[in-house]
Amino acid sequence: MKKNHVFILLLFIFGSTNAQNTSQIPQLGKDKVENVIAAMTLQEKVYLLMGLGDNGWSNPSNGEKTVLIDGEAGLTWAIPRLGITSAVLTDGPAGLRIDSHPKDLNFTRYCTAFPTATALASTWNTELVENVGKAMGNEVHEYGSDCLLAPAINIHRNPLCGRNFEYYSEDPLIAGKMGAAMVRGIQSNGVGTSVKHFAANNIETNRNSINEVISQRALREIYLRGFELVVKEGQPWTVMSSYNRINGFYTSENYDLITTILRDEWKFQGMVMSDWWGGADAVAQMNAGNDLLMPGCSQREELLKALKNKIIDEKVIDRNLTRILTFILKTPRYNGYPFSNKPDLAAHQLVSKNAATEGMVLLKNDKNTLPFKNVKNVALFGKTSYRYIAGGTGSGEVNYQYATTINESFEKNGFKVSKPLEKLYKQFIDTVSKKATNENRKFIVDFHAELSLQKEQITSQVNNTEVAIVTIGRNAGEGNDRNVSDFSLTDTEKQLIHDVSTVYHAANKKVVVVLNIGGVIATSDWRDDPDAILLAWQTGQEGANALVDILRGKVNPSGKLPMSFPMTYGDVPSAKTFPGEPANNPVNAVYNEGIYVGYRFYDTFKVPTAYEFGYGLSYTQFQYSNIQLSSKEFRNEMSIKLTVKNTGKTAGKETVELYLHAPNVEIEKPVQELKGFAKTSLLKPGESQEITFKLDARSLASFWTNSSSWVDEKGEYEVRIGASSKDIRLISTFTLPKTETVEKVHQVLYPNRPVVDLSVSIK
Ligand code: BGC
Repeated sequence: MKKNHVFILLLFIFGSTNAQNTSQIPQLGKDKVENVIAAMTLQEKVYLLMGLGDNGWSNPSNGEKTVLIDGEAGLTWAIPRLGITSAVLTDGPAGLRIDSHPKDLNFTRYCTAFPTATALASTWNTELVENVGKAMGNEVHEYGSDCLLAPAINIHRNPLCGRNFEYYSEDPLIAGKMGAAMVRGIQSNGVGTSVKHFAANNIETNRNSINEVISQRALREIYLRGFELVVKEGQPWTVMSSYNRINGFYTSENYDLITTILRDEWKFQGMVMSDWWGGADAVAQMNAGNDLLMPGCSQREELLKALKNKIIDEKVIDRNLTRILTFILKTPRYNGYPFSNKPDLAAHQLVSKNAATEGMVLLKNDKNTLPFKNVKNVALFGKTSYRYIAGGTGSGEVNYQYATTINESFEKNGFKVSKPLEKLYKQFIDTVSKKATNENRKFIVDFHAELSLQKEQITSQVNNTEVAIVTIGRNAGEGNDRNVSDFSLTDTEKQLIHDVSTVYHAANKKVVVVLNIGGVIATSDWRDDPDAILLAWQTGQEGANALVDILRGKVNPSGKLPMSFPMTYGDVPSAKTFPGEPANNPVNAVYNEGIYVGYRFYDTFKVPTAYEFGYGLSYTQFQYSNIQLSSKEFRNEMSIKLTVKNTGKTAGKETVELYLHAPNVEIEKPVQELKGFAKTSLLKPGESQEITFKLDARSLASFWTNSSSWVDEKGEYEVRIGASSKDIRLISTFTLPKTETVEKVHQVLYPNRPVVDLSVSIK
């Protein structure tokens, strides 16, 4: 009896203590984050600091669930006893990247392939980009992901970077404004973004180790500025550090970059994650403020040991965990969102098509070749006419349901496509495809040499068709840079354009070249042959439909170049230093062109370009007039107004560009820099629109390395309003009476080896 009593008493105490314990275990969302962290074991802490890997990438021994959505890029660790759920992270910039045929599920899960970032930037339309973001974010939400690993906003420093298609521009204002619009659009769905790759991830060759040596001025003005704008204007939930080193240190291990600049100066409130397996030293990454290591697992032991041996302060870990948990608290999965697996794909198809049409750039249109007049029969040359390249390879790829081809789209729109040519190219594509391995199946045709045609094969088409289209395709993706031979057209391609042009011109018929490419190519050695050139970019699953709408005049092109097309590769300011040194296996890449990237270089050093930054033709003409500055003297801000009128015969949209020419008193500056851009609405013939730009003190500022500050120099400033960087239509001036420091920032990120930036005085 007594014994029983004791037993019951013990049971009561033990049981009640246990019950008390359970009810007292802090729960994420109900209790303070700091209490949840305090309740974690060291092991739980370490596990939460890194992802669970991806299917096949890690092999957790303890039965953890490593995949929540097939095709996801990664997952964070869940701790159910503390109410902590996993967050699903998915790529990428051109649309959601997940598997379309999920294992164990009997439905398909296609995602919309939107135009690549470069094509989106060519719209110069931030409202449109925000709408694309809304649609993309809806797919993220409805397919059960929590965060899209996008946008990617690195600078097009050199045309050969294999990932340029994922990035917006050679100009940080465009990259920043487009990126911020994309973040706002995606996050309006209640899902996160990860702005990547922070920073200066402009080279894919040896990307996991390369050290980019960049002056502090070039970093601040060119490579960090876009990120600064996105953080301040978009408030992304997360930022992804990059693979490369900057000035000696891995970005993910660099406190000055991730904490001093990103958090202290720019007031970033969110979480930082590493790029997949980026960096080398987990302790350094934690100390730097790189909160989450992705895809994770492999550094668990290293970090646990460091924590146990007090090599890393637990407070640092707790700080990083706080940011991870703050992120998780916002995610749809934590909040129990019942995702439908049914995003509105039909609506997104239209968003994608609209963006594609606005992102295409008309480079040449001699004698109004375009839009087509009296064209019913078309001859389509080039393999890419029969396989549209919707986007690039790697994590920026999307598993879409279809990508309409140019021949299909012509037929859908009532044109007749030359059948003998179609047969010839389809046979060629079949033959090439048969050589494919599992790894290269999807892209073997894009990377294969063009079919070489006999002159007779071209001549036989001319009587039955009114126009010839030659499509040139290029593809690329992460992990590799392009080479100069990919930049140039091959002899076969040039011969094809030349022969088709000769034959069609002899019959008094026109030739249009369509460029279905992801990055800049050579144009100056073949562009005289065809009558018109349409730069279609890689514009998603609807790209071919969009381009046929432009060719037939249903839509008036309004895209402009967000980068320069050089005359030759040798003209590119970083041609001699890309990818780095030694060239065959680069260790360092010295950015000795400094701030002179893209048009900043070509304009200042008077180097002619094939097509300048900001260039693009329309089927109508616009007149610019009536420029008005809010004052003649700059006092903290300034507004600039002007009127744009459609003086042609076709309705159209115009991109208006504002460049500033600043005085060179103490430090030299590029001859002009883009400080604003705007797109009109669709203006009918004769219709006008007033455009307003605002400049603030930062718009005038250059970065002074010695004092580590943004400074507005006194003197006369010239406001140049242009239809491109070379086609300046209106000019006005204002003065700044005295030199002013706009912002003083930290003296950080010194180059680890001497770098002498290009200068007008030392050419
Ligand atoms: C890429 C990132 C991508 C990540 C996850 C990396 O290789 O650089 O852009 O988000 O993989 O797929």
